[in-house]
Amino acid sequence: MSFEFIKVNPQLEKHIALIELHRPKELNALNRQLMLEVRDALRVLDEDESVRVIILTGGEKVFAAGADIKQMANATAIDMVNIDQFSTWDQIKKTKKPIIASVSGFALGGGCELAMTCDMIIASDTAKFGQPEIKIGTMPGAGGTQRLTRAVGKALAMELVLTGRFLSAEEALNVGLVNKIVPAELLIFETLRFAADIAKQSPVAVKLAKESVLNAFNSSLDEGLIFERKNFYLTFASEDQKEGMAAFVEKRAPDFKGK
Ligand code: CAA
Repeated sequence: MSFEFIKVNPQLEKHIALIELHRPKELNALNRQLMLEVRDALRVLDEDESVRVIILTGGEKVFAAGADIKQMANATAIDMVNIDQFSTWDQIKKTKKPIIASVSGFALGGGCELAMTCDMIIASDTAKFGQPEIKIGTMPGAGGTQRLTRAVGKALAMELVLTGRFLSAEEALNVGLVNKIVPAELLIFETLRFAADIAKQSPVAVKLAKESVLNAFNSSLDEGLIFERKNFYLTFASEDQKEGMAAFVEKRAPDFKGK
């Protein structure tokens, strides 16, 4: 499969795949073609048994400056309905394997929404997050009002969405939007290290645990607890659970196979 606006490395490190957004002149603005490519790459990597963790990055300089304003500028509402550009984004939340956003520079508008749709965010010290759509006469449309509010709370989300102010990496860390800040030149290396800590776990348990955490956003506490309990019981059908507990008892490292 060849891509125009992304680069895919299916096995950067053992079990870790990397998708890099690559429209540098446009600050990785997310046009439809790029998001179709991200969707297709995620589908392939999610089905590839050798891949356990996926990293999505824009590289060292910029993550993404948002949806492509030039592509949308003259669209009518019906064009937007017919193109339904955000439908390609649904693949991100359908992906069963963990996705880590590795963010340097601007993550604005759709770029911030893309990072937040991933499961975790590693930010470089140059990262800037924001939902500046209000400054161009519109509003977030790919989850910004929902995921940002859940991540940082109503007061700050409302401020960012209504003023378009950017958050520095440090502020993003303080409010719980990102997992970790690292120097920009070490971003990919540090993201790989972070990913490796997940890639060495049981892929079956990781998938079920990811599904359970995400379910917390869509269910009541009681429903979420039942869902979690069933996924916990389900891990006992895996060879990995037997291997993990046997390895603990035998005082050795487990060798998880994803079965
Ligand atoms: N869409 C299309 N092109 C973009 C873009 C975008 N979102 N962001 C930047 N570019 C282009 C610029 O037009 C410019 O292209 P040219 O060289 O051909 O003029 C190039 O990238 C470099 O940008 P700047 O010269 O503006 O760079 P800067 O360093 O001075 O400023 C910036 C950087 C603050 C990110 C500024 O580019 C900017 O404000 N970009 C738009 C941010 C934005 O509003 N994002 C939200 C988009 S709408 C959205 O995302 C909806 C949604 O919910 C999904």
